[in-house]
Amino acid sequence: MAQLIDGKAVSAQIKEELKEKTAKKKEQGVEISLAVIQVGNDPASSVYVNNKKKACEYIGINSIAYELPEETTEKELIDLVEELNERKDVNGILVQLPLPPHIDEDKIIKTISPKKDVDGFHPQSVGALCIGQPGFVSCTPAGIIELLKRNHIEIEGKECVVIGRSNIVGKPMALLLLRENGTVTVTHSKTKNLKEICRRADILIVAIGKPRFITEEYVKEGAVVIDVGIHRNENNKLCGDVDFESVEPHCSAITPVPGGVGPMTIAMLMNNCVESVD
Ligand code: GUN
Repeated sequence: MAQLIDGKAVSAQIKEELKEKTAKKKEQGVEISLAVIQVGNDPASSVYVNNKKKACEYIGINSIAYELPEETTEKELIDLVEELNERKDVNGILVQLPLPPHIDEDKIIKTISPKKDVDGFHPQSVGALCIGQPGFVSCTPAGIIELLKRNHIEIEGKECVVIGRSNIVGKPMALLLLRENGTVTVTHSKTKNLKEICRRADILIVAIGKPRFITEEYVKEGAVVIDVGIHRNENNKLCGDVDFESVEPHCSAITPVPGGVGPMTIAMLMNNCVESVD
């Protein structure tokens, strides 16, 4: 039986550590504040934003919520971000994505000061990660590294295969695995021989965005499998990009969905907020 990588437990542990750190900072007179901006009322975004606010409250971080109407113009959003960049009492700025189609996401991300870019999406943050300099790192891939480390799974020298090349997960994931001295292959929708490449992986990171796509034929005996996907199946139950029942018997370790990677994203966001005052 594979070791189940418990993201819920690791995330709870990290949140406890952050709660303590935040309390100590408060004793020294340092408050931490995160501005959370949502434009429109996409239901999935509302759930994510609420979870972020709740996590802030638990840890002792002030969250300043901006719920803006769908019709908000790009200029209005840029003006708000610029105002928040200047405010001394705001340490982190998060603009929930996706934004309505009339707003250019890249333009908004570029407007956020890299000093307050707790999502790690600003080109300067991504560039810093690329050349091994300090900066905020995208929360989901950072959470996966933390999950591996806290479960004593070595990355150095391992064949790591990442499925997916998004700016938020795949690309920063590859850079982080490389930073940990893994041998990294990134695959994507145009990759030929996906199965063959995946079967080389000691560590397989799956962010393909297709429910239960990865079956046992993609997995080497004894591999570690990390599932970034989250979907609802035909019975309205949550499932990942990995067909857990088929893959699990062949792994040495695997993340479940739910309770694997998901809870780590918010824990790492909170970690970035705490680091924003260091
Ligand atoms: N939408 C989906 N995931 C994220 C995230 O991590 N950060 C932001 N800002 N928006 C998202």
